[in-house]
Amino acid sequence: MSVREEQQKYIHLMQQYTEGKRLKYHIVTYGCQMNVHDSEKLAGMLQEMGYEEAQELEDADLILFNTCCVRQHAEERVYGNVGALRSYKQSNPNLIIGVCGCMMQQQEAADDIIKKFPFLDLVFGTHNLHHFPKLLYEAINSGHMVVEILDEEGKVVEGLPARRASNVSAYVTIMYGCNNFCTYCIVPYVRGRERSRLPEDILDEIRGLAANGCKEVTLLGQNVNSYGKDLNKGYLFTALLRDVNKIENIERIRFVTSHPKDLSDELIEAMAECEKVCEHIHLPLQAGSNEVLRKMNRRYTREDYLRLVDRLRARIPDIAISTDIIVGFPGETEEDFRDTLDMVERVQYDSAFTFIYSPRKGTPAARMPDELDIEVKKERLNRLIALQNDISKARNQLYMDKVVEVLVEGVSKNNPKMLSGRTRTNKLVHFEGGSELTGEFVKVKITLPKAFTLEGHMI
Ligand code: SAH
Ligand code: SF4
Ligand code: F3S
Repeated sequence: MSVREEQQKYIHLMQQYTEGKRLKYHIVTYGCQMNVHDSEKLAGMLQEMGYEEAQELEDADLILFNTCCVRQHAEERVYGNVGALRSYKQSNPNLIIGVCGCMMQQQEAADDIIKKFPFLDLVFGTHNLHHFPKLLYEAINSGHMVVEILDEEGKVVEGLPARRASNVSAYVTIMYGCNNFCTYCIVPYVRGRERSRLPEDILDEIRGLAANGCKEVTLLGQNVNSYGKDLNKGYLFTALLRDVNKIENIERIRFVTSHPKDLSDELIEAMAECEKVCEHIHLPLQAGSNEVLRKMNRRYTREDYLRLVDRLRARIPDIAISTDIIVGFPGETEEDFRDTLDMVERVQYDSAFTFIYSPRKGTPAARMPDELDIEVKKERLNRLIALQNDISKARNQLYMDKVVEVLVEGVSKNNPKMLSGRTRTNKLVHFEGGSELTGEFVKVKITLPKAFTLEGHMI
């Protein structure tokens, strides 16, 4: 029996169970786009099993927490939010609660969750997402907690349904896992080694999306630049980009994340030549000091990074560059930190995600002496944020009176009269308009650039 056939068997059994019950699910997702897309796949399976989505947690018969463990803070939120459901479960014994995702892929964290929250029905990791219908069926029928955490990642499983948040813009996983082992990072331990999907599977999926009205795809992987290396077919990320660029009705292509060590000249060339590839790159810097970069096992220097930025800007003049930066890595001196500020000044990022280093058990950095005071870390973070905010503001100011192409995502969350959408450079734009424009490309003249968003009017 193929993986999908076995899954279909349990989906069918679940359909018999849900029939006539009008059961609803709610998924709470933490972490990166990878996890967001995993939740879309869980939702796809739930829809096939006969569940409907509940907008509010309170209305759900099944609640799933798809967890992240990249920083301590992400884990704490899971404990708080799962714990808060104890009383729900007492008042509604039929409620099914599950916890899955990266945090559960760590045996210790999973054991702890199971011990602290014995009322859970279902616990599973990242490697067995496709077993979800079976696990859910067993949890419902056995009446006790079902736990399945696989040690090994196994083969890539194709053909899973996904229920995407948007019809217009879609996430498409091109590879799973990571081989880089940056010394601070837990991801390789919870997502396994790099496994690329076959080009035809990816291209078929995108053609299918395009046929359903999708206009923008974001190709996902922890390090998309090394796509295809494990397939040994000589078909690499640049080839994939060029092929996606040929798919009719897809108008925009994005990708995350690019590791600077693997950003080749060929890739920059492909980005410049493929008209659908957007003028934006997320290029995590992590630190500006060569000594810290070395201790992080990032395998590039600040000089290498600056050369990449020069090349990108030479070939794609309007490119927006965003980044991730960690402050307070073990042993980071004031001078090291100033190197980070210096890099931020030099590169002039459009935006940056900034984090205080969080030791992750089992990673090499967690064993390095970490003598920095939390107050010092916070103070550094604040200095970094203040500098970046000024730069973001200045970068956005360049859009004043410019006309930009915006792909309308929908009605703005904060103001029902406004629409929001993104420029090719990934800037969020707010402007007045009717919701019927969702999914359309419109031209917007920018009249009010702010630090994090742009405002304007349609022309
Ligand atoms: N694969 C991607 C993203 C990984 S996680 C990449 O390589 O860029 C997203 C970000 O979280 C990382 O870029 C890093 O800045 C941050 N991060 C990862 N581990 C961390 C830790 N232990 N403490 C603080 N930030 C961390
Ligand atoms: Fe983590 Fe580094 Fe892999 Fe990114 S490239 S997921 S930071 S180990
Ligand atoms: Fe993503 Fe967090 Fe897992 S960043 S890969 S959800 S640990």
